[in-house]
Amino acid sequence: EEGLHPAQYPWSHGGLLDSFDHASIRRGYQVYREVCAACHSLDRIAWRNLVGVSHTVDEVKAMAEEVEYEDGPNDQGEMFQRPGKLSDYLPPPYPNEEAARASNQGALPPDLSLIVKARHGGADYIFSLLTGYRDPPAGFEIREGMNYNPYFPGNAISMARVLFDGLVEYDDGTPATTSQMAKDVVTFLNWAAEPEHDERKKAGLKAVILFSALTAISLYVKRHKWSIIK
Ligand code: HEM
Repeated sequence: EEGLHPAQYPWSHGGLLDSFDHASIRRGYQVYREVCAACHSLDRIAWRNLVGVSHTVDEVKAMAEEVEYEDGPNDQGEMFQRPGKLSDYLPPPYPNEEAARASNQGALPPDLSLIVKARHGGADYIFSLLTGYRDPPAGFEIREGMNYNPYFPGNAISMARVLFDGLVEYDDGTPATTSQMAKDVVTFLNWAAEPEHDERKKAGLKAVILFSALTAISLYVKRHKWSIIK
């Protein structure tokens, strides 16, 4: 059974030539880190990927260093702990799937790296899901531990509502309403799924300009060459 169809939202990166809103990616990272990362991994993103996108290199180094990574073996054949580096990937919340399911009543929180691409409806769907929790309609039976959400296929999801007004404190002073945090985290996750997005649109614009110029030149040359033939 399908979920309710999400509304189409005017994402700042929606247009043919629009880039991501990088201030929103930065706020969205904060929401991911402080809220979602308790349960969801983001396997494909390394610390270095954030540099110049949402944070400065010094900020990212400091964030990475706060996390302990296992490394080794060293010369003595032992594993050891060391602070994170730019080349490390963001740390997962659980060591493996069994641990993830054990902490979530059997359900598996999916890795969020490609979720915006993987789910039908993309950014609009995930925004709607995060902001769409409500009481079930009369007569809708919901199992213990499940939550009603009309946008989720089947309408019963094991993830509870996680965003509430004022949950995080943004350093740029943006009021952290539920919908603001949902918008920001979805923009962040959309970037994570398509880190080449801005470059791709820039390259597309260059290609259109270049091919327009080439077309104009070849039309001119053709008319010029053929002008002697009546
Ligand atoms: C599922 C996003 C926080 C536990 C999901 C899904 C998304 C998502 C997109 C997939 C829904 C689908 O399959 O269509 C987020 C975001 C979060 C967040 C953006 C932070 C703002 C959390 C937290 C927990 C959690 C904190 C644990 C306390 C789960 C679980 C599922 C899930 C268990 C699987 C649900 C099911 O298949 O029934 N989440 N999540 N999530 N999430 Fe989260």
